[in-house]
Amino acid sequence: MVRTFEYDSDDKAISLDDFYEICESTPIKSGEDLEPLCPYLHRLSNNRAFLAEYLCDYLKSFATLEAPHSLLPTTFIPRFGKDYVFRIVVWPDNFNTIEKGQYNYLHNHDINFITCGYAGPGYKTDIYEFDFESCSGVLGEKADFRFVESTFLTQGKVMQFTAGTDIHLQYPPEATSVSINVVQRERQMAVAECSFDSKTYRVNGHAVSIFAKDMMLHAIANFGDENCRDVLMQIATRHPFMRVRAAAWHALMQSHPEDIDQLAEQGAKDPHLYVRTSVKQFHEGMTQYFGLSVLPGHGQAMNRVTP
Ligand SMILES: [Fe+2]
Repeated sequence: MVRTFEYDSDDKAISLDDFYEICESTPIKSGEDLEPLCPYLHRLSNNRAFLAEYLCDYLKSFATLEAPHSLLPTTFIPRFGKDYVFRIVVWPDNFNTIEKGQYNYLHNHDINFITCGYAGPGYKTDIYEFDFESCSGVLGEKADFRFVESTFLTQGKVMQFTAGTDIHLQYPPEATSVSINVVQRERQMAVAECSFDSKTYRVNGHAVSIFAKDMMLHAIANFGDENCRDVLMQIATRHPFMRVRAAAWHALMQSHPEDIDQLAEQGAKDPHLYVRTSVKQFHEGMTQYFGLSVLPGHGQAMNRVTP
């Protein structure tokens, strides 16, 4: 469940350097390890100068075209620490919102993090929770989540989110706002980060894109040679991210239809439910769609382009 920490408004402020020092000396190996940092994140929110200073330095870096610290359009990452990442996220109001996808979608995360309102009125957020371990995370799957509360991330308020379990939906704030976050650096690879349809209670997307990897594996399935099979097998059995393992099993089944049953059987032994469900669906889909049971065995991908 999302935990909320409220503090006295006249709390002391700390400098960004002092804050980094505290973060560096705090081992963060789990979501719970972030909790001791909450009061310090709050104190950083009382430091009214650091954001303008940081943004000014960031602007100067434009001059040399070296700005490696921005991921999404409104996320700045001033610090990659040993166990943590410090982020500043700007939340534009409705009028200034360019990236509509930032709001109005219900999602969980595969990261543990704490967040604090820093400037502006703060976005409104609806919070839900669900038992992510009972949901594999494949598209269209039923997801049993429960509404917990609607709240605002106001200035100085700190909220702690647990990977997998905590789901939220954010609305554009009344005026552009800023939050500051400490994120556990290590992503929770076993958690499927999903977006959900709040009406049908089904998984309707994945917030983290593996599009490039998916496409690469798809290309190998179609155009790769026998040597690729070993590499694909390594990825399918050893990659830490379950969606990449699932994509590798798909590619193996697609490029080696003569072994599809055996490959599906191997994929069904994956430790993650997402991979097992996804492999089963792909196996059934290929068998039904291509009528594999009546096709003669062959060593080529079925949709391999022929000259
Ligand atoms: Fe989120």
